[in-house]
Amino acid sequence: MRNLLLTTIIAATAATGAFAQSASDTAKARRAFYTLVGFEMDTLAGMAQGKIDYDAEAASATAKDILALTAYTTADLYAPGTSNDDLPGETRAKADIWANMADFQADGMAFYQAVVELNDVAGNGLDALQPAVGKMGGTCKACHDDFRAKDF
Ligand code: HEC
Repeated sequence: MRNLLLTTIIAATAATGAFAQSASDTAKARRAFYTLVGFEMDTLAGMAQGKIDYDAEAASATAKDILALTAYTTADLYAPGTSNDDLPGETRAKADIWANMADFQADGMAFYQAVVELNDVAGNGLDALQPAVGKMGGTCKACHDDFRAKDF
């Protein structure tokens, strides 16, 4: 459902080409979005790896924040003309994203599923948190391997 909606929005916006923001500002906003995802992930990974103490309330709140971020409609962050071919040095988003939107969205759905599962267990102790964070982290890596360039 969510990925269908995203496809529709991208198709619609691509057709009209009507974007108020510059390509550079779009890449900046996209990176800011992932900065937030990464910021929250650092807390969970820190707990999972024993670098910071497990805290059920903090783990639950952090998982909830990531879930909130998955509700963000990212279609406008992926406006056409904002890949690393278009904006060298400004973004690591590969042009493959736009060429293989269905695969990109499948990676996004796997991430979303893992975030939902994480939210179910984050408050249930470190032993429950660890595998769920690991699984979610695997979905981050999968999308980065497929669609994020190593360097700018
Ligand atoms: C569906 C694909 C996808 C998923 C899932 C995903 N990312 Fe990313 N991420 C990207 C892309 C694409 C970029 C590059 C954005 C750019 O440079 O414009 C990126 C960039 C980033 C960045 C760098 C931001 C910057 O400053 O340039 C961080 C940090 C990050 N992701 C963390 C995460 C974490 C942590 C997760 C999982 C909890 C995650 N991402 C899940 C696609 C994804």
